[in-house]
Amino acid sequence: FSVQQMPSLHLGMKIKSLLFCLFAAQSEVIVPSQPVVSLVGEDVILPCHLDPVMNAFDMTVEWARPDLNPRFILLWRQGEELETKKHPSFSGRTLVFIDELEKGNISLKLSKVKVSDEGGYKCVCIVKSLFCSACW
Ligand SMILES: *[C@@H]1O[C@H](CO)[C@@H](O)[C@H](O)[C@H]1NC(C)=O
Repeated sequence: FSVQQMPSLHLGMKIKSLLFCLFAAQSEVIVPSQPVVSLVGEDVILPCHLDPVMNAFDMTVEWARPDLNPRFILLWRQGEELETKKHPSFSGRTLVFIDELEKGNISLKLSKVKVSDEGGYKCVCIVKSLFCSACW
């Protein structure tokens, strides 16, 4: 262990904390590579969670279908769902588990699955830049 190794060790720690910040500022998690399968009319849970665990209650959580316009199927911001922003075809059919948000679990429940629900979904989690500067 020589003195010269110190700067690189220090750099390594900085990079790690930067990565954490990037993650904290906007972590994007695509739903698992194995497709979630459901029958028409069933309710289904699309899994998504933050790793490391962070409280998502006060974050902005977006669930979206990038091929739709508007693309949101659920938008959660500062402790409430913004119903008006979401695609009408998902009206009243999507929810997040409010008790689970603080455990970083931002899984989506989709009720009464329709044929048109088939497609790629993505969940995005955004934290205010303030939070990021706090984690330095
Ligand atoms: C997230 O919450 C849902 C609904 O309670 C549950 O089914 C799922 O297992 C949870 N996922 C994790 C990673 O805890």
